[in-house]
Amino acid sequence: MRLIDLRSDTVTQPTPAMRRAMAEAVVGDDVFGEDPTVNRLQEMAAAMMGKEAALLVTSGTQGNLVSILAHCGRGDEAIVGDLSHTYLYEQGGMASLGGVHPRVLPNSPDGTLDLAQVEAAIRPDNVHFPRSRLLILENTHNRCYGAPLSTEYIRAATDLAHRYGLKVHMDGARIFNAAIALGVDVKELVAPVDSVTFCLSKGLSAPVGSVVCGSREFIEEARRARKVLGGGMRQAGIIAAAGIVALTEMVERLADDHANARRLAEGLAQIDGYAIDVERVYTNIVYFDVVNGYTAQEIVDRAREAGVLVLPVGPYRIRAVTHYGIEATDIEEALDVFEQAVKG
Ligand SMILES: Cc1ncc(COP(=O)(O)O)c(C=O)c1O
Repeated sequence: MRLIDLRSDTVTQPTPAMRRAMAEAVVGDDVFGEDPTVNRLQEMAAAMMGKEAALLVTSGTQGNLVSILAHCGRGDEAIVGDLSHTYLYEQGGMASLGGVHPRVLPNSPDGTLDLAQVEAAIRPDNVHFPRSRLLILENTHNRCYGAPLSTEYIRAATDLAHRYGLKVHMDGARIFNAAIALGVDVKELVAPVDSVTFCLSKGLSAPVGSVVCGSREFIEEARRARKVLGGGMRQAGIIAAAGIVALTEMVERLADDHANARRLAEGLAQIDGYAIDVERVYTNIVYFDVVNGYTAQEIVDRAREAGVLVLPVGPYRIRAVTHYGIEATDIEEALDVFEQAVKG
């Protein structure tokens, strides 16, 4: 049985063009800075983001951590959202490995942090307090319905942080989804921030890797942090080759994923037994609730038996994510499966 796997956009398979590029990649020792394919990917990524330099890392988690380590020292404080990936799903690496203290503020459902609360959370210089050093934004926001942060919000948040001497890091794991959804150049979204991590291995479908971008000085610090975390990867051009294909061929098609997510949401809204706020489907992530007495796990199990995979993310809440490899016809099939699954 062919599975329709909507658990995450991380399950994407590399494209045939990626496999060819990987097989043919010219490689060298990247810890010596001698892998031409890694260097090309990094130059390309920096240019796309409008930053001076870029660094290939193993994962989004590593990208966020090396960025935090580059911006902060032990005992410094980073302001993060309570629903952010960095705070929820990265093992508290900033604290356990970096000695960085997270200052947690509530995320609004659209992924933003209230800027008055951010301003109030920034510490004055006082011997009792850690030093506020960093503000972390997430774009698109995974747990907040895949919402994209607007250019205006990013600029306002960054202006505020900079006014108080804080740096701003953007967890842009899905920054290209944000750019496509908002219809803006990705450069515009990241222009105000000091650093950004984006993932090659989610909607862009590369098998491995993320890229951190920022100033040359910041990237040199991030490179040191990557090394101590074991992320110096030698002939990493094999991976970078797929990343180059991802950036050249896989960005514009994210619009198809967004259209499929919207169709899925609209279909779910028509089925008795589910509740969904279609207005809160912004990109490729769909959250919906089971409201007829079944638990999320029961629906997930039933759907799996019928060949559709989704993730339970709460007692009654399910997440579905669209991506490369999921076609419009798969969405119709998934809707049939969800309809059957919720029937008594
Ligand atoms: C918003 C966000 N940031 C960071 C990550 C971490 O990426 P990785 O799984 O490559 O470590 C994820 C992964 O799903 C994510 O959704």
